[in-house]
Amino acid sequence: MIIDRRTLLVGTVGSAAALAIWPAFAAVPPLKKKDTYKVGFAQTESNNPWRLAQTASMQDEAKKRGCQLVYTDAASSAAKQVADVNSMIAQGVDFIFLAPREEKPLIPAVMAAKKAGIPVLLIDRSVDPSLAKAGEDYLAFVGSNFIQEGQRVAEWLIKTTGGKGKILELEGTIGASPANDRKKGFDDAIKAGAPDMVILASQSGDFARDKGRQVAETLLQAHSDATIIYAHNDEMALGAIAAVEAAGKVPGKDILIVSIDGEKDGVQAIVDGKIGAICECSPHFGPKAFEIMYSYAAGDKIPPVIINPDRFYDASNAKEMLASAF
Ligand code: AHR
Repeated sequence: MIIDRRTLLVGTVGSAAALAIWPAFAAVPPLKKKDTYKVGFAQTESNNPWRLAQTASMQDEAKKRGCQLVYTDAASSAAKQVADVNSMIAQGVDFIFLAPREEKPLIPAVMAAKKAGIPVLLIDRSVDPSLAKAGEDYLAFVGSNFIQEGQRVAEWLIKTTGGKGKILELEGTIGASPANDRKKGFDDAIKAGAPDMVILASQSGDFARDKGRQVAETLLQAHSDATIIYAHNDEMALGAIAAVEAAGKVPGKDILIVSIDGEKDGVQAIVDGKIGAICECSPHFGPKAFEIMYSYAAGDKIPPVIINPDRFYDASNAKEMLASAF
């Protein structure tokens, strides 16, 4: 059976009779104008500083606005995150902020919320655009331009190395939008801008420090000629530093390491000469996410994609920016 967007919508509703009521839900459900709301925030995991900073930002803003926050942590399981959203629906939340762990498995959660008449705002990660659409199935996506993050790191590398080097790539969670897009942005920019650079191997470290260390260790053993490690986030880059040192090499000298996020330990590693550059991915979603929810309730038109600006760190600014990193 071909799984397309229509199959999913019908599957979510679940009966021929329900099919007849589907058109009534064709647009994003409305949100009544109120002073405060009961909102859900379905987080993917809490195993790194980026996620902790994002959760703190959402909790702070909910408190500031007097909103009741139903918070869930999917503990790195897409199946649990779907169940978490279903539980929020059962608890009668007015609005759901969803950080979908992976692009495809979270589609049923988006559709279930829509069917229940609850608008969803995707924050930081997106879902498969062929299966669910902004402005139809969910309100909008707010987050970084992940393709551009990968591109910016690649451009810095090309400039710094003169377009030469052998790269190992540590990818994020398989099926997650930042992993897909950071790979595309980086790989395409290297291919287009540096014919003498080669990506020797590319493997997922699941955005986690220890997994990143293990994968980097294996890849370094298989490719002793590698000169660069590109990690899709700082946690894996920090794991890679340990792997490089364990291999008897010097990070920053024998192996140039670059990554994405801008957590404090990552920016400190630039100051220490162990990471070359980091493109920031801001985790501070609270003010923007709640502002979008309130302006939707006020009747404003919400653009389908809202991009967060990201800074860029290297040896020229890391020391002075360290205090403002998360
Ligand atoms: O979706 C954003 C990514 O998710 C961050 O780069 C990463 O650290 C987090 O787990």
